[in-house]
Amino acid sequence: MGIEKLIKKDLLAFGGYSAATSPETLEGKIDVATRDIIKLDANENPYGCSPRVNKALSQFQQFNIYPDDGQEKLRKLLAGYAGIDAKYIVAGSGSNQLIDLLIRLLVNKGDEVINCTPTFGIYSFSTKLCGGTLVEIPRDENFNIDIAKVKSAAGKKTKIIFIANPNNPTGNLTPRKDIIELLETGVPVVVDEAYYEFSGQTVVPLMKKYDNLIILRTFSKWAGLAGLRIGYGLFPPEIADFILRIKIPYNVNAAAIAAVAESFKDTDYLIDSVKKLIAERKRLFTRLQKIDWLKVYPSQSNFILCRVEGIDARELYKKLQAKGILVRYFDQNRIKDCIRISVGKPEHTDAVIKALREIGG
Ligand SMILES: Cc1ncc(COP(=O)(O)O)c(C=O)c1O
Repeated sequence: MGIEKLIKKDLLAFGGYSAATSPETLEGKIDVATRDIIKLDANENPYGCSPRVNKALSQFQQFNIYPDDGQEKLRKLLAGYAGIDAKYIVAGSGSNQLIDLLIRLLVNKGDEVINCTPTFGIYSFSTKLCGGTLVEIPRDENFNIDIAKVKSAAGKKTKIIFIANPNNPTGNLTPRKDIIELLETGVPVVVDEAYYEFSGQTVVPLMKKYDNLIILRTFSKWAGLAGLRIGYGLFPPEIADFILRIKIPYNVNAAAIAAVAESFKDTDYLIDSVKKLIAERKRLFTRLQKIDWLKVYPSQSNFILCRVEGIDARELYKKLQAKGILVRYFDQNRIKDCIRISVGKPEHTDAVIKALREIGG
């Protein structure tokens, strides 16, 4: 009775995270069978994981045993791929978990976190959850970061500057020289490379020079393992030690660990699917540009952001959903009236373009 009185005051107004729609939740609500839904709202990989992962997991005999809490083998495998010693690496249940852990480690109530908006929602989600203060530095009209403004906002209370690179949902990259300028402030800079395999750009070579650089990566996008929840971070070794200490035990599940090992045995397959998606990104971009009521933003990632001009963006999103095509719709601030379309297979591009034409002309 009145149990909600026990909830921390700071959390009473917490709005939560608005996640992508799960197709099964639409069953019976739209006239499209769940298996026919085209899901282009969460930047997942339509080619799926390596078939080696499916095979290995179907034969896996150790689901009854806890995984290695210290992630020793996993960290060594990740070290080989990332090109850095395992002492820099910690894996998480998705890179989201590492964002959360890092904020918990560094941000006290009242400390500041700089966010270059619009950007990925979890940075603000976890900052608010920890009682941190968000300092939002809006990007310019092309979504580039105003480095001078970020630098002048960074002060004694600043604990983290977040840069998603490429940025989600805008798809653009921040040049390395700008990241270096921010690193020179001495404030911890998180460069979130969730889409690295699609952009080909990384700041890993800067890790050894800057002990305030943190890089995040994931298997959700390029490796088709979003549902298994596995990501990793490269941290200065002292920070990596602390992240390992404060994480929940066994935070990465056994299936995910096995899946990473199999994925690395099949990088040709995965790189091929990345190449197909990059080619499809170009095709989707060209076709979207021909629709005169869309402003299409260039992308170095596996999704494309479009501003809907002249027709109602929310209606468009709902009508696409009714046709069984899921895209992400945004209604806040700088990305008001925007939709983000994940790059799919060629037939998904054809279906989404056909639907957009049917709805908006
Ligand atoms: C920029 C960015 N970082 C991190 C993530 C989260 O990835 P994960 O599935 O590894 O938690 C996403 C997912 O959309 C993302 O866009």
